[in-house]
Amino acid sequence: MNQTEIRKDEHIKISLENDVSSDYNYWDDIKIIHNALPELNKDEINYKHKIFKKEIGAPLIIAGMTGGYTKAEKINENLAIAAEKFQIGLGVGSQRAAIEKNDLKKTYSVVKNYDIPLRIANIGVSQIVEWGKDKTLDFAKEMIEMIDAHVFAICLNFLQEVIQAEGETNAKGAIEIISHLSSELDVPVIVKESGAGISYELAERLSKTNIAGIDVGGLGGTSFSAIEHYRAKKIKDELHARGGKTFWNWGIPTPTSVVEVSDATEGKIEIIATGGIRNGLDAAKAIIIGADAAGIAKTILKPATEGKKETIAELEAIIKEIRAVMFLTGSKNTSELKNANWTVIGDRLWM
Ligand SMILES: Cc1cc2nc3c(=O)[nH]c(=O)nc-3n(C[C@H](O)[C@H](O)[C@H](O)COP(=O)(O)O)c2cc1C
Repeated sequence: MNQTEIRKDEHIKISLENDVSSDYNYWDDIKIIHNALPELNKDEINYKHKIFKKEIGAPLIIAGMTGGYTKAEKINENLAIAAEKFQIGLGVGSQRAAIEKNDLKKTYSVVKNYDIPLRIANIGVSQIVEWGKDKTLDFAKEMIEMIDAHVFAICLNFLQEVIQAEGETNAKGAIEIISHLSSELDVPVIVKESGAGISYELAERLSKTNIAGIDVGGLGGTSFSAIEHYRAKKIKDELHARGGKTFWNWGIPTPTSVVEVSDATEGKIEIIATGGIRNGLDAAKAIIIGADAAGIAKTILKPATEGKKETIAELEAIIKEIRAVMFLTGSKNTSELKNANWTVIGDRLWM
């Protein structure tokens, strides 16, 4: 394995073996208002949902996590089997490794073998800066073809990069390349944070490009600063272990980010709420406060490393919980779920 492959393997291992969540999960500060008499028959609820012009079985997307080292193929396959079964969206992790090493393509392209309505390709922002505009466009087309993607995601992960000893911290020119991709590619382009959230101001800047969506990837779930803390600690790199600890809770809470991004973009683009979604109740909260889909990463990672049965069982539970919320809020379909009433309790969440 080369350095990138080792790092990817470590990220998964560390996420599974340690508590890498931010100290607080901000979804706990949101309460949905119960409708004691919903005046509908649960069996007649329409659970289908549309995003990026694709129909999916629930407003749920498995966020991009892995690919690029041997064991990732099985994880992506388990995720793909479950995504096919429930007809939900599925992202893969950064495809850089496969662009650099042909052998690794199959660790991503395995998802192509399954009938999934929404497949999302993925590349990290520092990589597109390093490649530049023209090379990135060519590689993006290759990554889309690799998994037969319906959407192309650019992952913003500068928190992780700045903590990592080997991090790539040049962000200059990124927005121009994002803009170029969003105009030139045949599939919708989205920008995706990976645990630190997107602000109102950035959403405004991004909405001047032709992107079709933003995955806010906010604070409240997996902290990449925490993951990098453990990676550095393992090799006794005290400087970076300390940085990982200091920035453990850095970022904009996911619910705050959803509200800010929807205010800034005024319904012109789709919003995905990833970051700290632990169950179907959190996922439903995300839709109710303004997201078009909820994204899950860590919650589904462990089952995906165990097997397809475990992955299916976890997704089944999450979807059942979303459906329970739809009934308990009197929502006949996912559009009505968006209009359910909610409130903020507690004093941790800023809005
Ligand atoms: C092990 C691991 C690897 C990840 N790799 C990627 C990646 O390659 N690209 C990406 O856009 N996000 C990546 N993410 C971030 C997730 O997509 C998601 O934004 C983040 O984990 C927050 O969601 P969660 O709280 O449900 O885990 C990764 C997350 C984990 C846990």
